[in-house]
Amino acid sequence: MTATQAQTQTRHDSHVKGSIALRAHPTPLQRNGSLNKYESFDVTPVIGSEYKDIQLSDILNSADKDVLLKDLAVQVSQRGVVFFRGQDITAEQEKELVDALGVLTGKPSTSTLHIHPTTEDTSPKGDQISIITSKRQSEYSRGDRSKLASVGWHADITFEPVPSDYAILKIHTNPDAGGGDTLWASGYEVYSRLSPPFAKYLEGLEALHEASFFKDAAKNYGIDLREGERGSPANKGGDLSAVHPVIRVNPVTGLKSVFVNKGFTRRILGITKDESDLVLNYLFSLVSENHDLQVRFRWSTNNKPGIGDVAIWDNRSNYHTATFDYGRSLRVGDRAVSIGEKPYFAHDGKERRESLGLPSWHQ
Ligand code: SIN
Repeated sequence: MTATQAQTQTRHDSHVKGSIALRAHPTPLQRNGSLNKYESFDVTPVIGSEYKDIQLSDILNSADKDVLLKDLAVQVSQRGVVFFRGQDITAEQEKELVDALGVLTGKPSTSTLHIHPTTEDTSPKGDQISIITSKRQSEYSRGDRSKLASVGWHADITFEPVPSDYAILKIHTNPDAGGGDTLWASGYEVYSRLSPPFAKYLEGLEALHEASFFKDAAKNYGIDLREGERGSPANKGGDLSAVHPVIRVNPVTGLKSVFVNKGFTRRILGITKDESDLVLNYLFSLVSENHDLQVRFRWSTNNKPGIGDVAIWDNRSNYHTATFDYGRSLRVGDRAVSIGEKPYFAHDGKERRESLGLPSWHQ
């Protein structure tokens, strides 16, 4: 190989311009069909699929576990979020499953499971399970924060330099009267709503994500912020900030998505603050104002002990938000978050509609 060929090769493998990692993304993975024997349906045309007659714990105990979980990982990346009703999966099994989704689809060997900076080191289910509880939520909503429901849209832990690929949540305790629905929105489809010249402009930009509010939250809870490694050697310390490309390519699907979110993205870099505020607010509004790229999931109530519905989503290309409409009732679940790869942009990434042979949004 000549020196020029070697340079070209390096550029295609992993090239860093500013800190936008540019790569030729790996060949998109296809589903292997092993889950087709179970009945499922698409909840909306754009995002969300649901299974009824399958226990995730049976998949974990099956001899074909890896084949089935790889098919599931690809489905989650393609459909954004996949729901499972009435699951007996334990918190330990949630960890095993969500880590396997990343491993089977090629996440770096240094990426494991996230430890949230506000998880107590005495947390009853261990470091790698976030106990999602309405008791803590009331702490977050104190003070001078926006009370608009749409303020909650986020993708998990994008303040980390190496953020999440997949997450799993089981809600096992839900108010009898209902409420507490969770909504997800497709970042692929948000990208599709951008005009091609505007999308191209955003493809050259990076944004700052940060979560210093977790430092205040930790103080309020009277706990020490977790400053050791949080699922990757790159995720440590008390800074809780990272710079990521505004448009990201998902390595499993090869699809482009908008990778900024209201919860953690503060500033697009290289343009003025006023320009950044305008652009970010526009991108956030595409998420919250387009209910045709969202799916809303109603968690079942009156479950038997240990049973609950489960959602598994791809944090690279989707956003989600909970709904706090249940007053003082108790809503509790267990969440495990897998760490993926450092976000990157690839020019050969595809737009979702085009890749599915659907008409462009702009026609
Ligand atoms: C989360 O933000 O990961 C939890 C969502 C929920 O409580 O519904």
